[in-house]
Amino acid sequence: MTTFEYAPALESRSIVTIDSEYGHFINGSFTKGKNHFPTLDPSSEEILSQIALGGADDVDAAVDAARIAYQSVWSKMSGRDRGKYLYRIARIMQERAREFAVLETLDNGKPIRESRDVDVPLAAAHFFYHAGWADKLDYAALGKAPHPHGVAGQIIPWNFPLLMLSWKIAPALAAGNTVVLKPAETTSLTALLFAQVCQQAELPAGVVNIVTGNGQTGATLVNHPGIDKIAFTGSTEVGKAIARAIAPTSIKATLELGGKAANIVFDDAPIDECVEGIVNGIFFNQGHVCCAGSRLLLQENIADEVLAKLKVRMAKIRVGNPLDKNTDLGAINSREQLNKIQELSTVGDAEGAERWSPECTLPGTGYWFPPTIFTGVTQAHRIAQEEIFGPVLSVLTFRTPAEAIEKANNTPYGLSAGVWSEKGSRILWASQKLKAGVIWANTFNKFDPASPFGGYKESGWGREGGRHGLTGYLKSADEGVKKGGENE
Ligand code: NAI
Ligand code: MG
Repeated sequence: MTTFEYAPALESRSIVTIDSEYGHFINGSFTKGKNHFPTLDPSSEEILSQIALGGADDVDAAVDAARIAYQSVWSKMSGRDRGKYLYRIARIMQERAREFAVLETLDNGKPIRESRDVDVPLAAAHFFYHAGWADKLDYAALGKAPHPHGVAGQIIPWNFPLLMLSWKIAPALAAGNTVVLKPAETTSLTALLFAQVCQQAELPAGVVNIVTGNGQTGATLVNHPGIDKIAFTGSTEVGKAIARAIAPTSIKATLELGGKAANIVFDDAPIDECVEGIVNGIFFNQGHVCCAGSRLLLQENIADEVLAKLKVRMAKIRVGNPLDKNTDLGAINSREQLNKIQELSTVGDAEGAERWSPECTLPGTGYWFPPTIFTGVTQAHRIAQEEIFGPVLSVLTFRTPAEAIEKANNTPYGLSAGVWSEKGSRILWASQKLKAGVIWANTFNKFDPASPFGGYKESGWGREGGRHGLTGYLKSADEGVKKGGENE
């Protein structure tokens, strides 16, 4: 098999300036931060900067700033004026798009092609989209006199750092809430650059606060008595801990958790297109995607043909330097995540599934895993049940459409699914039977701010994006009494 040799096409990193140390962004300015921990470029293990480890006093200060900004400025401002700030932020993000893309790729390990063409444009699109909502909340069937919760505590993961920030902050601000956001410990840098954008946009101090740190910092934020609303994206395990923590309170939560999506290929599917969709479904962003198509369900009579074509296609995936514009698959985000992928893959071997990867040379330093498929997977295998969150695809087969649905739904998750078929009626039939929040037909991993995203079962609560997503940041006049007993 021949793969063209491409000359390296490295994106320059000179556009970004990374300070040697960062503090938190509280009440419109940066603090110094007390204790720090390093953030790495996972493709080289180079230390990029030192990030502040947020403690209880930092969370207190951020929540206080958000409360004051909420009461004195943001809740009093008209939707039209809030919208102006959101538009301004969106435009600055577009102006500084290359800077964001290079920084995201350095800190996260994802290919520059993806940060440049997917993460950053979509992040800006979320601000543009929600800017348009800010002055229309009263006219969109969002309940009687919809109004914000107050201070939102938001915790995001490392797989789409800037994009998850925008999924959280844009609707919260559009609805009139102020926020305290905690980025993931391995990927704080684009959130800190976003803080600079807030300054540049002259967003009133305290409307957006960013406290960096680890899981303990996140837990402190969740348990803070000054928080009125929680939004979390991350593991189901932490999602459950958050649900337990807020159970005795009146706090509303949106939880976007794990997934183990079935990507179902019927025998009338257009095979070449679906091979592209399978690759996009599992190898996009190194498979660090909650809605990744990580369980491929092939109709038995076409399984050999699809697998043969898939292997040819996988041999052409370019793994390597994330800053190279030709790279398809970048670095695994952290050593912990690499360990988890390696561990679950070893379990796959031990349980009798057959592992295959194309020949590819992995760089000597950094965290890397080759594109991998396991065939001969059964439903009982752990690699068919557990989220691997890496470039590893489990392949199962089925004979009848009913069997496909039964296998697809046989998981504790229910975030997304894919259906490949030429027949519209079959796609509609399957979509009705699948227990998943998002279902793609003859495509995969397509996102739009206007389209609600979220899951069933252990994949979480609530939706983000679209009108549905806004409802998570609003309550209506006939709902709820504010903490401390005061009626709002
Ligand atoms: P995680 O759920 O521990 O981390 C996500 C965020 O939650 C981070 O900002 C973290 O600091 C924070 N956090 C951790 N413990 C917390 C707590 N007790 N209270 C409040 N916040 C807390 O996920 P992690 O450890 O990075 O990844 C573990 C696995 O989770 C992955 O292998 C993957 O399977 C899954 N995952 C799913 C994601 C999704 O998009 N649904 C995103 C990231 C991870
Ligand atoms: Mg990092």
